Amino acid sequence: MPRLSSLAQNLTTETAFSVLAVARSLKAAGKEVIELEIGDSPFPSTPHAKAAGIQAIEENRTGYCPSLGLPEFRRAAASFVGREFGIKAELDHVIVASGAKPFETYFAEALLEPDDGVLIFGPQFPTYIPNLQRVGARPVIVPLRAEDRFRPRPEQVAQFLKNDHRPRAIFLNSPHNPTGGVATGEDLDAIAELLRGSDCVVLSDEPYCHMVWEGRHESLLARPGMMEHVVAAYTMSKSYSMSGWRLGFAVAHPEIIQAMGKLINTSASCSPPFVQLGALAALEEDLETRNDYMDRFRRKVERLSDGLATIEGITVERPAGTFYVFPDVRVLCNRLGLTSHGLAMFLLEGADQSFGVACLGGECFGSAGAGFLRFSCAEPDEKIDRALEFLPEALTRLDRARAYRESHPEHVLEQPYPG
Ligand SMILES: Cc1ncc(COP(=O)(O)O)c(C=O)c1O
Repeated sequence: MPRLSSLAQNLTTETAFSVLAVARSLKAAGKEVIELEIGDSPFPSTPHAKAAGIQAIEENRTGYCPSLGLPEFRRAAASFVGREFGIKAELDHVIVASGAKPFETYFAEALLEPDDGVLIFGPQFPTYIPNLQRVGARPVIVPLRAEDRFRPRPEQVAQFLKNDHRPRAIFLNSPHNPTGGVATGEDLDAIAELLRGSDCVVLSDEPYCHMVWEGRHESLLARPGMMEHVVAAYTMSKSYSMSGWRLGFAVAHPEIIQAMGKLINTSASCSPPFVQLGALAALEEDLETRNDYMDRFRRKVERLSDGLATIEGITVERPAGTFYVFPDVRVLCNRLGLTSHGLAMFLLEGADQSFGVACLGGECFGSAGAGFLRFSCAEPDEKIDRALEFLPEALTRLDRARAYRESHPEHVLEQPYPG
């Protein structure tokens, strides 16, 4: 047996991809499964992106390009964040990578040292902590609360800056996956005020910047003085249905951009030029399709959350943003004797022989998510409706739940959830 590094041995991964694998193997074996586990889009990539990507391949834009990204894409991205979010940026504030996720790694490697405290609002995107593990930084998790509609509280930031022995960074994600919470302009003004004069830096992870259903998207980086403190990460994955293209970009101080450029130079080398040219066309020419997709997502979210709200034992409000719905299912977990992840797996594997619904237990996003489920809206409306028809009936199948507990002891809830 080869000896693996302690990092490789201890790295936790994104459960959504494991549940997706179970769902796909059940489907391959003939089961009908509605897939609401993965945060992907049911829509095709936007049309100008596709046409420009194909054309760029035809024109042989298929070789290496600068590690920081194509200048024309960086310029387009800078003006995009200016017109959309009021961020004052130029080409040298922008760097390109394969999605938003790599910026978790680059941020950690460019800015953090071992034992640096990093404030994370829980439940949290599952790859934040593994990326801190890479550099030995220390996660400090504080809970978001349903009664705050899952908005980060500036007081939590103030306490972290005051009480932690090395408060160095914050991972801020608004609109928030998995809860759908959205930070308001006032929340961000107050957080910016706390950051000014500190040496604390923020990864502002904003993949859902066009999925705000109440108010409008606000970016921390648009606040005065924040270019010294914030790395804002954006992606083509959600707004333009381009997750498989793997393209995102970050906006930050030029010195941080150069440091991240070295990290890319020494790992990925660069992002594919034809992908950047497709993305450039999306940013500049696919606004209409994007708006149409966002309207459709909003209606899906409403359909799903309103439907879930009618089911006995489920407590849920419409999310303020994102394409996720995050219901409180503690009553059901306590009744069925299953953890929330166990409940998710029961709905997929155990509740019915020929039909299943795939979703995620809230604890896939850390212990602050326990007692909740996360549903995405990744399926067509009729499938969402079929899932909503199935759930109330499936949740009454106590015999099947007992059998599932016996065959899957790892999903048994030892202590009922409080509350
Ligand atoms: C909060 C958050 N950050 C980052 C990502 C990764 O985005 P990308 O696929 O563009 O790398 C996601 C995707 O689901 C996300 O929800």
